[in-house]
Amino acid sequence: MKRQDYYYRRAKREGYRSRASYKLKYIDEKFYIFKKGMNVLDLGASPGGWSQVARELTYGGNVLSVDLKPVRLEGVKFIKGDVFRDETVDRIREKMRELDIEKFDVILSDMSPKISGVREVDHMQSMELARRAFQISRDLLREGGSIVIKLFYGQEINNLKRELDPYFDFCKLYTPPASREGSREVYLVCKRFKGSSS
Ligand SMILES: C[S@@+](CC[C@H](N)C(=O)[O-])C[C@H]1O[C@@H](n2cnc3c(N)ncnc32)[C@H](O)[C@@H]1O
Repeated sequence: MKRQDYYYRRAKREGYRSRASYKLKYIDEKFYIFKKGMNVLDLGASPGGWSQVARELTYGGNVLSVDLKPVRLEGVKFIKGDVFRDETVDRIREKMRELDIEKFDVILSDMSPKISGVREVDHMQSMELARRAFQISRDLLREGGSIVIKLFYGQEINNLKRELDPYFDFCKLYTPPASREGSREVYLVCKRFKGSSS
């Protein structure tokens, strides 16, 4: 049986919205991202697999999900919007006030562009999404917090890592075992945010 079939079937069996759930579980097992009661922002959350895992691993912490497409999950707050629009960020801030969240402990981005099939184009679009996720994190992540951001492999990856390195104590590129064989995705995991003016 192929690996993707295994995770797809496992997600169905275990009640996860997507096979992507297992990628975040592997990332957490390796990097210890989540703790009980943490506040999590999940960018590009639909259909909701990562938000489910975040909710589970924070044992009922606040999870705020954002996507162009709807996410309906019990216990998860959702904002439908494009992360590139300032209005979406304003709505995130509004929700933070409602939930009494000053800053997030963890910001996740599993955002993907629409795949064109042209590697370089997909890579550059994924870099734009990743940079936007980091821009939002600079404002909304607490000092000491963590980010996990998806990227598609390409020439810009190491430049982005170099840009983020000074803002964190620890930054590493990691491909979890649950990623599809031959997939060009990789996750940038950064911990212990030093603050936006680093
Ligand atoms: C691979 S899926 C995320 C899967 C999710 N992590 C899960 O576990 O179910 C990527 C998502 O990124 C979202 N996305 C792409 N561009 C976006 C944007 N500009 N603003 C908000 N969401 C975006 C897409 O709508 C899509 O649902």
